[in-house]
Amino acid sequence: MGMAGEGESGDTRGRILSLYECETPAQTRAKYEEWARIYEDDMAKSEYVSAAVAAEIFARHCADRAARVLDAGCGTGLSGLALAQEGFSAIDGADLSPEMLRRAEQKNIYRKLAEADILAGLPFADGEYAGAMSAGMFTGGHVGPEGVGELARVVCAGGFLVFSVNELFYEKMEYPKTFARLQSEGKAKLLSAEKKPYLAGVGIAAYYVVLESA
Ligand SMILES: C[S@@+](CC[C@H](N)C(=O)[O-])C[C@H]1O[C@@H](n2cnc3c(N)ncnc32)[C@H](O)[C@@H]1O
Repeated sequence: MGMAGEGESGDTRGRILSLYECETPAQTRAKYEEWARIYEDDMAKSEYVSAAVAAEIFARHCADRAARVLDAGCGTGLSGLALAQEGFSAIDGADLSPEMLRRAEQKNIYRKLAEADILAGLPFADGEYAGAMSAGMFTGGHVGPEGVGELARVVCAGGFLVFSVNELFYEKMEYPKTFARLQSEGKAKLLSAEKKPYLAGVGIAAYYVVLESA
């Protein structure tokens, strides 16, 4: 998978694309454990804008800045920071990688942080959050549409879920089909899915999806 062999200033794009090829959460976790140290440098170099874009959309839907918000796949905390910059003050985070979480903790913006694999289930009660945001987690080699239902479960009825889905995987992994199923099961309603920049320097966009939990 080659991440260790690539220099710190080396192939940022290659490191990002290699993540998309992970086949299990254990592989993804191992990659992030190693990448954590230079993750934010790589994100800056590749003009990663997903955290800021998702937080701006989330802020438009969730007026209550004191609402309990979950940052799913919070990583080193870039997404939590973007939420804090929008004025949110009760942010919790969950992520697969302890090394990423260790860095998130140092930012002092999260109320609590949990190590969790969303595909195995989040350690939160049904409807515990007023809203949830996720930036950069719904992409190849990370979490597919099967993670959306679990995110919806922890958001209370009437709360919003805002998350980016890497454009390369949106149709391929049949996200729209999952949204239609969640809607027919009365679990969440699709409000919008707008295509906007994601990894601008790498030329990859994302769909920014807004669901209302039912
Ligand atoms: C591209 S990073 C985004 C981090 C952060 N949200 C940001 O905007 O910088 C994706 C994150 O998703 C996490 N992740 C991947 N698969 C996961 C899973 N199954 N459950 C929870 N987190 C996961 C990774 O550990 C990583 O920190």
